Amino acid sequence: MPVTQLRRIVPAARLENVRYAIRDLACIADEVARQGHKILPLNIGDPLNFDFQTPAHMIEAVHQAMRDGKNGYSPSSGVKEALDAIRGEATRKGITNIQDVFVTSGVSETVDICLTALLNPGDNLLTPCPDYPLYSAVLAKLDIGLNPYYLNEEDAWQPDFDDIQKKITPRTRGIVLINPNNPTGSVCTRKMLEQIAELARRHNLVIFADEIYDKLIMDDGAHVAMAAVASDVPVVTFGGLSKNYLAPGWRIGWGIASGELSVIKPYLDGVNKLLRARLCANHPEQYAIKAALEGPQDHLLEVKRKLRSRRDLTVKWCAETSRVSCVAPRGAFYAYPSIDIPEGDDVFVTELIRQKYVTVVHGSGFGQRPGTKHFRIVFLPDEKTLTAAYSAIGDFMRERYR
Ligand SMILES: Cc1ncc(COP(=O)(O)O)c(C=O)c1O
Repeated sequence: MPVTQLRRIVPAARLENVRYAIRDLACIADEVARQGHKILPLNIGDPLNFDFQTPAHMIEAVHQAMRDGKNGYSPSSGVKEALDAIRGEATRKGITNIQDVFVTSGVSETVDICLTALLNPGDNLLTPCPDYPLYSAVLAKLDIGLNPYYLNEEDAWQPDFDDIQKKITPRTRGIVLINPNNPTGSVCTRKMLEQIAELARRHNLVIFADEIYDKLIMDDGAHVAMAAVASDVPVVTFGGLSKNYLAPGWRIGWGIASGELSVIKPYLDGVNKLLRARLCANHPEQYAIKAALEGPQDHLLEVKRKLRSRRDLTVKWCAETSRVSCVAPRGAFYAYPSIDIPEGDDVFVTELIRQKYVTVVHGSGFGQRPGTKHFRIVFLPDEKTLTAAYSAIGDFMRERYR
């Protein structure tokens, strides 16, 4: 007799707060695609879905590593060759006082490990609002409430420094800064970095500097690393191969921990404990790190040329379209226009997929100031696709809101 399962198996209550709007929307898009419609995807930040390719010398380095038998587990922090290359790159960016470097399965795993190693129940972490949803998902998993600080649309999406100051409590352990930013495409000013560093000094905070897009700055001016302006402050800088080096499927990210050793050492012991517990990051792919960071950077010129042209097209469309306005993005490949509509931005995006087969992500999926509405555009598709998508969004808005 088979045993009948009578009680439903329910997931842990803390997952109530896990949201990942970007992938959730993809389910609706799949449904529409199954009905035979061609989707114009402006929602997922994977350059490999569009006309971008992983540099050949990186592929060759991984292939060679596999042929050389680098197919077992690697050391938990990563292979020496990769760690040296990451340190070298950090030094070139002006980061000193480096106390540890470790390779992970994407920045996603760096974030998971670094937050888990820091936070106790009752602690809180300042995260940007709007944010990249990975942070709130990891915090939900840890049963840690959100302590979001606003990014200021009126100030080109710079962090709202007054709001950050107001939100610090005795249990605040750190602050996340995403720069260049997802979803707004903004780039932090040096002055803002210095102000946040000063606040971290005063309140004993760890700064998590997510700089995964640091080589994708579209305008003049180099990216300034947070750790480079705050060598005495505990900073973990996140970087990886997914965006700058067009290899998101390889799942290679890293953390660079800097600051005073005596201050940061106990925390790093905790991070390393977790790194050992999960064995290691993907092994052969780690051999692409040196090839990426020290090899030819030609692909970046081409990538930035395409992004500039697609960004300009996007900004022009926003400026010409009623009910839409947008701060011009300067880095990464996202735009985050605000929209003036009489319904929720979640309704806007779901109806847009269903009626015009264009996928963007609603602002409420990232968090936003109450009363404001936005949507995030990924402007990775080519100009032809973007033009078709913007024309469809324009039609949709005219028909729906006239
Ligand atoms: C700001 C930010 N951090 C981290 C990640 C995750 O990166 P990875 O592919 O290295 O896990 C992303 C991916 O889109 C991102 O936008």
